[in-house]
Amino acid sequence: MDLKINFKETKVPEYNLPDPLICLDGTKVTDKNQWFQKRRREIFDLFEHHIYGKMPGKSEKMSFEIRSINKNALKGIATRKEISVIIEKNQSEAKLDILIYLPNFQPKPIANFIFLNFYGNHSIHQDPNIMLSKQWIPKKIGYGIFKHRATEKSRGMNSSKCPVEFIIDRGYALSTIYSGDIDPDFDDGFQNGAHPLFYKKGQTKPAPDEWGSIGAWAWGLSRAMDYFETDKDIDNNRVVVMGHSRLGKAALWAGAADPRFAIVISNESGCGGAALFRRKFGETISHINYQFPHWFCENFKKYNDKEYELPIDQHMIISLIAPRPVYIGSAEKDLWSDPRGEFLSAKHADPVYKMMGTEGLKAVEMPEINQPILSTIGYHIREGEHDILKYDWERYLDFADYHFSNNP
Ligand code: GCU
Repeated sequence: MDLKINFKETKVPEYNLPDPLICLDGTKVTDKNQWFQKRRREIFDLFEHHIYGKMPGKSEKMSFEIRSINKNALKGIATRKEISVIIEKNQSEAKLDILIYLPNFQPKPIANFIFLNFYGNHSIHQDPNIMLSKQWIPKKIGYGIFKHRATEKSRGMNSSKCPVEFIIDRGYALSTIYSGDIDPDFDDGFQNGAHPLFYKKGQTKPAPDEWGSIGAWAWGLSRAMDYFETDKDIDNNRVVVMGHSRLGKAALWAGAADPRFAIVISNESGCGGAALFRRKFGETISHINYQFPHWFCENFKKYNDKEYELPIDQHMIISLIAPRPVYIGSAEKDLWSDPRGEFLSAKHADPVYKMMGTEGLKAVEMPEINQPILSTIGYHIREGEHDILKYDWERYLDFADYHFSNNP
């Protein structure tokens, strides 16, 4: 396995990308019908089989439990709800806790952002009334995590990634689930999290073409969507799925798989997210499978050092979202995620968006730093490091306003 790292544009290998508009039998796609009846399915199946693995659908036994409602949260500007989604199967259950803040001044039903978080719902805001997660949580110095469990000190530790009051002021609801409720982010051979619920008799781990952790996280996002469809305060035609980094990879896959998400946003999702594999710039397939063997399906390991053998590349995951708006955010110093490779994915998905009659991506060249592109495909590269900052949120809220006309 080649674990060398390339950060030089001059060392990017020459490559040809598979054409999203040419079917496996060579037919050229020229209209929406052909796309939806034939080519989209082909591309989706390839992603499922080679990269993310098949996910189960909605479980027959699923219920929603209201854990708390407070109409006077955040000094009165918001209503806070906590809902558990309970999924039962094979005599076990998975419980996903959704934390929701809804602006009190905004007419209902309200457009809503959903994202997964890294350290528990209590980590996104200091609000002392958010339930403290009881799940396994990754270690992080200074986050008050003791033996992989949250403590009172963990509250609000990740709040810099999520300006809740700002989002509420902009007239959007904000919903989040801890990714570890769906599948804790470590390689345990898929014994914890949602996977075992769906094992067939005698099965002990996912088959080579079945979901890893990213597939599970994407599946969890769709279960949140199942809940939103029952909540009259939320406009389920205006749900934005977004995610940062590994959870941005999950947001893209969720958006590709579930057309109920009206807008899809990837913040610095990099390798296995928005970046093109074939550039082998920054993180590569070998690196990601080596460090995170549980993220993708087993079949994906066949492509270690063999990106050119993959029948797809990541411009095609963006094309699966068409004609719905999609936004790709990059950061200048986040070379590990390959900002140029993220831009090029957006650019090479553009022909699919244009074929559908949308404006596509209003840029041919990569824009300058901090010069966002607002079109059906949105893109920015901002200054700074790998992170999700208020700057990014501002762009995503502007993007949602642009497509939803949601001005409070
Ligand atoms: C690592 C990993 C990336 C991932 C990132 C994150 O750097 O290599 O693929 O996106 O973690 O989730 O922050």
